Amino acid sequence: MSATEWGRRAEALYQPGYASRYRAVDDDIRHGVLVQTFGGWLRTISESFGREITALDLGCGTGRYFWALSHVRALTGIDVSEAMLAEARQPVDASAITVKNITLLHGDFLAQTLEAGAFDLIYSIGVLAEHSPLDDRLAERVSGWLAPGGAFAFTAVHPQSFSVTRTWQRRLGEWLLPFSAGRLRAVLREKLLAGGLYADEVRLRELLPRHGLRIESIGSHLSDIHLHLMCVARKPA
Ligand SMILES: C[S@@+](CC[C@H](N)C(=O)[O-])C[C@H]1O[C@@H](n2cnc3c(N)ncnc32)[C@H](O)[C@@H]1O
Repeated sequence: MSATEWGRRAEALYQPGYASRYRAVDDDIRHGVLVQTFGGWLRTISESFGREITALDLGCGTGRYFWALSHVRALTGIDVSEAMLAEARQPVDASAITVKNITLLHGDFLAQTLEAGAFDLIYSIGVLAEHSPLDDRLAERVSGWLAPGGAFAFTAVHPQSFSVTRTWQRRLGEWLLPFSAGRLRAVLREKLLAGGLYADEVRLRELLPRHGLRIESIGSHLSDIHLHLMCVARKPA
């Protein structure tokens, strides 16, 4: 497996001990607000196709949300951590999973080659604009993998999240932003979004259409961890 710098970072973080603790948390929080919110959202999106679909889970981890999918004929879960994928072989609430065929793929989604136009739904929870940058490279890949009419659903951490440390540089950048324009504004914005490790609505509305993805909705959820954005974008049919 060839991995990017981001993939290698994730692989180093999600080692066996961490993965088994993560999997234990899956059981503890299965019926909590966070998982119910993201799971219910994913179920609604997968049902909205009104037919059987193919799906790709970017950074599937331990398969925390496999139970939420509906009408999915074939699911590919890709993750750079072997340890997380090993846990995903016994995902939470396995008896509730209706997906007919699950393929777990060990790979870095920033480097992996996947079939063009193969997926009706590409989703990613707790990965993009959090552990891996939500940027042009990622959006271009997703757009290529989506089938016409396909949906891209993902969560992202908002820069105003209380989990984002309010350093003096960040406060200064936020203060300067309304007075800035042109190149300075672009540089400030990129710094405040940490090169794509956070995302706000403006970022989503600039980035996704550049890659042929039309934004359908941007919601938010305030958990005890982050202020999460929940975005659905569509590749026109
Ligand atoms: C916080 S976990 C989220 C797992 C799962 N989506 C969930 O909601 O529980 C982040 C996962 O993304 C994976 N990951 C991060 N960057 C990746 C990359 N570039 N390619 C593949 N997997 C990646 C990590 O290995 C890890 O399993």
